[in-house]
Amino acid sequence: MFNTRISELLNIKYPILQGGMAWVATHQLAAAVSNAGGLGIIAAGSLPGEIIREEIRKLKELTDKPFGVNIMLMSPYAEDIVGIVCEERVPVVTTGAGNPGKYIPKLKEHDVKVIPVVPTVSLARRVEKFGADAIIIEGTEAGGHIGELTTMSLVPQVADAVDIPIIAAGGIGDGRGFLAALALGAEGIQMGTRFVCSKEADVHINYKEAILKAKDRDALVTGRSTGHPIRVLKNKFSKEFIELENKGTDVYELAKLNVGRLKLAVRSGDVDNGSLMAGQISGLIEEIDTCEDIIQSIVTDASNIIDRLSPLKGGDKL
Ligand SMILES: Cc1cc2nc3c(=O)[nH]c(=O)nc-3n(C[C@H](O)[C@H](O)[C@H](O)COP(=O)(O)O)c2cc1C
Repeated sequence: MFNTRISELLNIKYPILQGGMAWVATHQLAAAVSNAGGLGIIAAGSLPGEIIREEIRKLKELTDKPFGVNIMLMSPYAEDIVGIVCEERVPVVTTGAGNPGKYIPKLKEHDVKVIPVVPTVSLARRVEKFGADAIIIEGTEAGGHIGELTTMSLVPQVADAVDIPIIAAGGIGDGRGFLAALALGAEGIQMGTRFVCSKEADVHINYKEAILKAKDRDALVTGRSTGHPIRVLKNKFSKEFIELENKGTDVYELAKLNVGRLKLAVRSGDVDNGSLMAGQISGLIEEIDTCEDIIQSIVTDASNIIDRLSPLKGGDKL
């Protein structure tokens, strides 16, 4: 069910990826998603390569299914990590924050599938030319670092502009979002926020509960004035940050303020002073479920929606 070029390319049961998420996407979460038939991804964030090598090895003890590593191209260790994923025979790499073009030849030599995360049509075209195997199109609804355009408007425009398969990300949390993404021209989805609220995510319970409590307008954007907008849940830290931005505080001062804040929320559960990265879909999430339950309910619901919509084809009313 739901076979696409993405499930075929990645050799997975369902075309559902768990987003690379700094501090959140550890080997436990990635293994659980891969074991549930999706693609689990370890996030390298700004951690040194040897820690990521350990994570990869621990993940391999928990699953024999395909998995990926997300490399943040801004990390000072990005090049090291490219070398490590080649040595460790990681099947898939996703990349954030830029164009991974210069690493693509080496990754391909080692049979690694390369899937950049892209926020615009022009970058999508460029990474296709550089040899990307697929692309993740991430809309501004997403948690974490974001672009300007919405998933709804961006996915069909990219689908018309490139031939490689597309994975939609940003604002997807259930079977409705999954099927809508396929209707827009994607052949898979990536979810971040939904998987933060999974049983297997090694994330402090306070963080998960903050997402469960969040309503539709609680995920706001900080850092627009710095050129690095980040979607987070409203809390003491995000309010103070926005006040400082409105006062015209220096960009470097603001950047310093963000250092260590995500870790503070994920590991220590400090939901007042930490950065609670999460997307607009937070308001939809009401339970902490296993990755298996999350994925199964998405495919079951999507399949039921196809049945529910079928009378439309015959001219009948829903
Ligand atoms: C806590 C958190 C941390 C994230 N860190 C990263 C990251 O390190 N690298 C990356 O490419 N994307 C990162 N993202 C984006 C996710 O991989 C994913 O694309 C996004 O969450 C999808 O949107 P959604 O949150 O609406 O599901 C992060 C997202 C969250 C919520």
